[in-house]
Amino acid sequence: MSGADCIGAEAAARRRAAVRAVLGERATFAPRASAVAYACANVALVKYWGKRDETLRLPETDSLSVSLGRIGTETRIELADGDELRLNGARVAPEDPVATRVFDFLALFPVRPAGGFRVVTTNTVPTAAGVASSASAFAALVRALDGVYGWRLSEREMSVLARLGSGSACRSLWRGFVRWRRGERPDGLDSHGEPLDANWPQLRVGLWLVDGGAKAWRSGDAMAHCRATSPLYRAWLDVVPTDLHEVEAAIAQRDIERLGRAAEGNALAMHAVMWAARPPVRYWTAATLEAVREVEAARAEGVPVWFTMDAGPNLKLLYETGAGARVRERWPHIEEIEP
Ligand code: PMV
Repeated sequence: MSGADCIGAEAAARRRAAVRAVLGERATFAPRASAVAYACANVALVKYWGKRDETLRLPETDSLSVSLGRIGTETRIELADGDELRLNGARVAPEDPVATRVFDFLALFPVRPAGGFRVVTTNTVPTAAGVASSASAFAALVRALDGVYGWRLSEREMSVLARLGSGSACRSLWRGFVRWRRGERPDGLDSHGEPLDANWPQLRVGLWLVDGGAKAWRSGDAMAHCRATSPLYRAWLDVVPTDLHEVEAAIAQRDIERLGRAAEGNALAMHAVMWAARPPVRYWTAATLEAVREVEAARAEGVPVWFTMDAGPNLKLLYETGAGARVRERWPHIEEIEP
């Protein structure tokens, strides 16, 4: 979770209407228990970059991710005397943007507890792994809310709700490969994740922390800025459908080269859109470029490894178990994840 998310009254009303539409008659249920839930983080192989509706976080295109297994968020919600957020063992100040974002989200649900909610959340994302935690955080939060209110929502319904907290969170309700369908409806009820009927036991994701410093742009601000100012944004919209097709075909065939090429190309295209924005959005550091060159050099020497990158300077390597030893030998610092 990161960054402030101040929304106006009109936007909040549209989000509340979306929540009511999902809950239907369950909107009258009162919170009555505590609940705990876990959701995995995910990394996009074809990125979500740009919204057609900022308020409801409706994307302009589909995107496709793979879950990160043991990397994720565990969240417990209890009824309390007032709203409180505890993150990784420490209380978060109520005015902290991370807390505001969570409390604003909780305020979208129609029946509030008499006192408030205590949200106790723990990220199993190694803090320094360079993986965004907002996806698993909002997915775990919605799952825990489902337990607290006793709604018994489907994964798909939870995905719609999680999307209102953080776009990529709608892909964190499932393990494995998930495609986020952009949907067509203005209320966003058809914009949610959908698990792919595929598995690939040999696939590995290597988290390579290049730079752990604070990032200059929040992803939401960066994508809005790119959409408004980058001359390459239209081209991005053309690239995504081809990459989705390639990545789905690669997954179906368990073809790491096809997957790697498409996912790496897609990440680079997204970053090209950013570099062309005015002013540019640059998450790359000198160390990022160095790491990219090392991956290319490894490939030139016959190691089948590719990378993807998100809104930050860090790399996520894509390879199969057969290349694992060579990858770990070259880069002992990477954290290897079995999706
Ligand atoms: O869900 P957000 O607002 O954190 O945006 C995620 C954007 C990327 O991570 C760069 C791409 C993606 O699809 O996850």
